[in-house]
Amino acid sequence: MTEILRELERRRDGARAGGGERRVAAQHSKGKLTARERIEVLLDEGSFEEYDMFVTHRATDFGMAETRHPGDGVVTGWGTINGRMVYVFSQDFTVLGGSVSETHAAKICKIMDMAMQNGAPVIGINDSGGARIQEGVGSLAAYGEVFQRNIEASGVVPQISVIMGPCAGGAVYSPAMTDFIFMVKDSSYMFVTGPDVVKTVTNEHVTAEELGGATTHTRKSSVADMAFENDIEALMEVRRLVDFLPQSNRDAPPVRPFFDDPERIEGSLDTLVPSNPNMPYDMKELILKVADEGDFFEIQEDFAGNILTGFIRLEGSTVGVVANQPMVLAGVLDIDSARKAARFVRFCDAFEIPILTFVDVPGFLPGTGQEYGGVIKHGAKLLFAYGEATVPKVTVITRKAYGGAYVVMSSKHLRSDINYAWPTAEIAVMGAKGATEILYRSELDDPEKIASRTKEYEDNFANPFKAAERGFIDEVIQPRSTRRRVARAFAALKRKKRQMPWKKHDNIPL
Ligand code: HXC
Repeated sequence: MTEILRELERRRDGARAGGGERRVAAQHSKGKLTARERIEVLLDEGSFEEYDMFVTHRATDFGMAETRHPGDGVVTGWGTINGRMVYVFSQDFTVLGGSVSETHAAKICKIMDMAMQNGAPVIGINDSGGARIQEGVGSLAAYGEVFQRNIEASGVVPQISVIMGPCAGGAVYSPAMTDFIFMVKDSSYMFVTGPDVVKTVTNEHVTAEELGGATTHTRKSSVADMAFENDIEALMEVRRLVDFLPQSNRDAPPVRPFFDDPERIEGSLDTLVPSNPNMPYDMKELILKVADEGDFFEIQEDFAGNILTGFIRLEGSTVGVVANQPMVLAGVLDIDSARKAARFVRFCDAFEIPILTFVDVPGFLPGTGQEYGGVIKHGAKLLFAYGEATVPKVTVITRKAYGGAYVVMSSKHLRSDINYAWPTAEIAVMGAKGATEILYRSELDDPEKIASRTKEYEDNFANPFKAAERGFIDEVIQPRSTRRRVARAFAALKRKKRQMPWKKHDNIPL
């Protein structure tokens, strides 16, 4: 009997050894953890339940019958993050380069099916040379099965991808369909075609890092959400993100104990907005002063800085925040910021996370670059995302809310529930200067007249009261009381129920 038990341990040790000492050492020498070490860092200590440890591939071509490794290059199972369940797969580059065989993919599919059925997020740690070349089309078909599950799981359970090594060719499309992508600087890359093919086809010379590294994808392409210095930092931040997310679309977002008084008054907010309307200020300061314990998990920090997106907690409950940032391009909406915020709003709505919007937007960015790039369609994404979101929505206008951008930024007209404005708000079709230049074109050569017209316009429109008179603003509030007002608004919306008309699905302008 003891011999049988020992045999199990021997087999387990064999599987845990991955591709062997030499390849593990090579992995470490690149500054990378192994698949199992990553899972240990990610999950609560001792919580990992592994499945399919003894699965091996069934291929025989190219001498593959002799290269079987238990586990077949991916470690799968579930565990907990701060006590809450998550499913995990972690590709093992030390086994055949983490390449994806039919059985490797079947292991991933198995835990994705369990995640959808049992309602828990899926975290995929990617470190793979792609489709296992020796298995040919069988491997491509297997990828297709993973893709299909990414699609089916989208909006059902949160999906997070962590890229910690190569991820190239069609393989990129699995992470691309997940909700968040984290990358590690200098040791991970994602591209559809690599530097050699690029050189041959377009004669461009780029390194893998330049073409598809973490910095490229978080700053230029926006494919990835966050870039980290090393594996450990990336995995610890995944833990932090998971703490904000619900388990599935059947569960409410988590509520954590909080130690920050929801009634907290922030006197400094009364002077946040400068008296000169052309002066910027840091919208992040408002977010941090409103959030429980000043904790803000920013998403896509390095892309489209003119809009801020991320998660905070109010009275312990997760809230998604979207905010124009006057420090970057005066907070205008443009193609990048509209796309970034629209995707975030849709994630929140899919998972019943209430949305808080802070508005200081002078309008849309003008220019041929924007128009040729399709700002009409991209701007519409954000408008559409806000309008279709049925979660509790609370908006605070701190300063400018001009023109179409006023409507887009979670206005009352897009079924936002509670809309506040600070006394410094200016809600109008456009700014005073632009308006007078159009309305009084014939008086343009008389600076005195124009100055008095501008003043008249400012007195009339550069305030929140015209909108408040119409009920488009529910209340003009003191900046210092924003945390209390917003927390009370969300508390009042806890039992909100709103449904869109039945449809198969909408046709958001993609
Ligand atoms: C089988 C693979 C493999 C693969 C790597 N290996 N990729 N085995 N299929 N796709 C094996 C290597 O033979 C080697 O085995 C071990 O993994 C480590 O690889 P190295 O090349 O020694 O490592 P490194 O120098 O770090 O280079 C990593 C790499 C390179 C850049 C990923 O291995 C590479 O270019 N691999 C091929 C990538 C590729 O073209 N994949 C197909 C992409 S298309 P030993 O035994 O020597 O340790 C794709 C389509 C998906 O994936 C489609 C979905 C629809």
